[in-house]
Amino acid sequence: SISNALEGKRITITAGPTREALDPVRYISNHSSGKMGFALAAEAARMGALVTLISGPVSLPTPTGCARINVSSAQDMLGAALNVPGEQDVFIGCAAVADYRAADVADQKIKKQGDEISLKLVKNPDIIATIAQKNNAKLVVGFAAETQNVEQYALGKLENKGLDIIAANDVSDASIGFNAEHNALSVFWPGGQQQIATASKFKVARELLYLIQQRLSEKL
Ligand code: PMT
Repeated sequence: SISNALEGKRITITAGPTREALDPVRYISNHSSGKMGFALAAEAARMGALVTLISGPVSLPTPTGCARINVSSAQDMLGAALNVPGEQDVFIGCAAVADYRAADVADQKIKKQGDEISLKLVKNPDIIATIAQKNNAKLVVGFAAETQNVEQYALGKLENKGLDIIAANDVSDASIGFNAEHNALSVFWPGGQQQIATASKFKVARELLYLIQQRLSEKL
């Protein structure tokens, strides 16, 4: 039945933003609240999955039945993702991971100085691409937050990151996506696609998880 569609499946989910420190008191981050990733974790657990939830800094309670690991930076999140014990059936990257971090993190608070200062940033590792490349999960599912050319950019990420499924979010619409209660997704995989209509993040999560379960059973 649908209520235990993910019985016994091991699923790792990343959620929330990352924080990239500039000095002991400042960081670079983004508007992810963690709501979408936590909804996925809650619904996957309700469907019988064994869920590991790797979360950036958010203010949400841990969903019932999930093992939670808190992290701060993208590098921490990658370390946690690679350290989850046991063979994973599904890895879902819902976190809004910072693509860049400060080249040097200052040991002391950066003092106010001239009228302009520059920050040098360096690229962070790509967590989901690393998981896909290492075959750390049977099915690797990414999200794509886009403000334009949603389908084209999402398909590019599906291909470039070596993913099995990508769920694209049009975040130019403030009523869905970052920190909203609702979401809507365009889901793509090699050879198929499906729209998930606007609904609560919990309902959207459930529909995405059914799709994931179908792709998983076809892949096995
Ligand atoms: O948290 P909420 O407020 O509920 O908002 C939900 C959301 C908008 C954050 C979520 O639905 C979403 O779209 N998450 C992905 C956000 C994102 O950063 O997308 P991206 O297009 O930059 O990244 C593409 C994929 O690569 C994502 O699966 C991301 O987790 C992953 N990635 C990105 C960069 C990086 N260094 N490592 C990664 O693993």
